[in-house]
Amino acid sequence: METAFLQSVFFQNGILKILDQTKIPNVTEFLEITTIEDAWDAIKQLKVRGAPAIGIAAAYGLLLGIKNAPENSFDDFYIEFKKQADYLATSRPTAVNLFWALKRMDERAKMEKHQPVAKIKEALEEEAHLIRQEDEEVCRSIGTHALSLLKDGMGILTHCNAGGIATARYGTALAPLYLAKEKGWNIKVFADETRPLLQGARLTTWELMQAGIDVTLITDSMAAMVMKKGWVQAVIVGCDRVAANGDVANKIGTYGVALLAKAHNIPFYVAAPLSTIDLDTKSGDDIPIEERDASEITEGFGKRTAPEGVKVFNPAFDVTPHELVTAIITEKGIIKGNYQEELPKLFQG
Ligand code: MRU
Repeated sequence: METAFLQSVFFQNGILKILDQTKIPNVTEFLEITTIEDAWDAIKQLKVRGAPAIGIAAAYGLLLGIKNAPENSFDDFYIEFKKQADYLATSRPTAVNLFWALKRMDERAKMEKHQPVAKIKEALEEEAHLIRQEDEEVCRSIGTHALSLLKDGMGILTHCNAGGIATARYGTALAPLYLAKEKGWNIKVFADETRPLLQGARLTTWELMQAGIDVTLITDSMAAMVMKKGWVQAVIVGCDRVAANGDVANKIGTYGVALLAKAHNIPFYVAAPLSTIDLDTKSGDDIPIEERDASEITEGFGKRTAPEGVKVFNPAFDVTPHELVTAIITEKGIIKGNYQEELPKLFQG
C-alpha cells in the first residue's frame, strides 16, 4: 500500500501553507502565510525546514514578495523581483536548495521577459509549482535507488529528519524506508534525537510511526553503542549541500555518525537530489555553515539547562569529508568513489 503523506508546503489561492514543524509532535498546525517577511521568518525559525522544503518555500515565498511588483515594464518589475529574491536568500545560508530555487525562479523570469508582467507573474507561479512537483518525483526516484542498497530485516540509523515533511513527499534518506514498508519489508530504524533542536526525536519518529515503520529513538550519544551491538547495517542521512569534491554538509552531528560508521565498518550513505549538489562550491571548507542562537542549547524548549552567560558554540551543520561517504544516492542513480569526476556527469544530458 502507498504511504499517505502530509504535504508540508503548498500554495493555494495566493496563500503559502506551511506545516509548522516547530510544533510537531504536539500539534499539527498549518500556518497561512501571505507576506514574504513571514515566509522569511518561517524559514529562519525552522517552521519549514529540510533543504528541499526550504527551496520550495522560497519559490512560493517569492511569489508573495512580487505580488505588488510594478507591471509597467520588465525592467521595473525585475528590480523589485531581485530585491525580494535577495532578501529571501538571507534567511538561511547552508542548504543550497534555497539558492537553487531562487535561481530557477530568476531564470524563468528572464525567459518570460518579453511577456506582459502579469503573464510573467503567472509563469513564476507555474515554476514554483513545478519545483514542488518535481521534488516529489525526485524523492521517489532517490528512494528506489536507495532501496537497492538495502535488504529486508536490516537495521538503519539516521540523523536529523530527511523525511516527507523535509521535502515535497517521501523525503530523501527516509524515502527507501517508505518504499521498503510498501514492499512489506521489516526494517528497523534507529533515529538519533539530533541535538539541539531534536529533529530526529520530534519529526523522524513522528513520521515513521505514522507509516507503521519500526523506529527506536536514541540520543546522539548512543549511536556508538547501538553500532557496536551490531544492530545497524547501514546509515542513511540527507544533506544540505554536496560540494564538488563530494564533501557533504548536513545537520550537526552527522560527521560524528560518519566516523562511527567507519569505525564499525558500516556503510554511510548520503541521499541528495541534484538540487542539493553545488558544483560551484569546491570543497566542504567553502560551504557556509549557519550558526544559530545560543539559547537553542542553553534554554532549548523553554527550560534553562546551562548557566546564564556561558560561552556557547552552536553550528547548525557540519561537514563530512567525502572519504567517509560510501555512496551518494541521487535521483539519477548512485555514485561512489571519485566524486570530483562522477558528480558533474549527473548534470550531463
Ligand atoms: O536545520 P534543518 O532541520 O533544516 O536541517 C535539516 C537537515 O540537516 C536535513 O538532513 C537536510 O536538510 C536534508 S532534508 C531532505
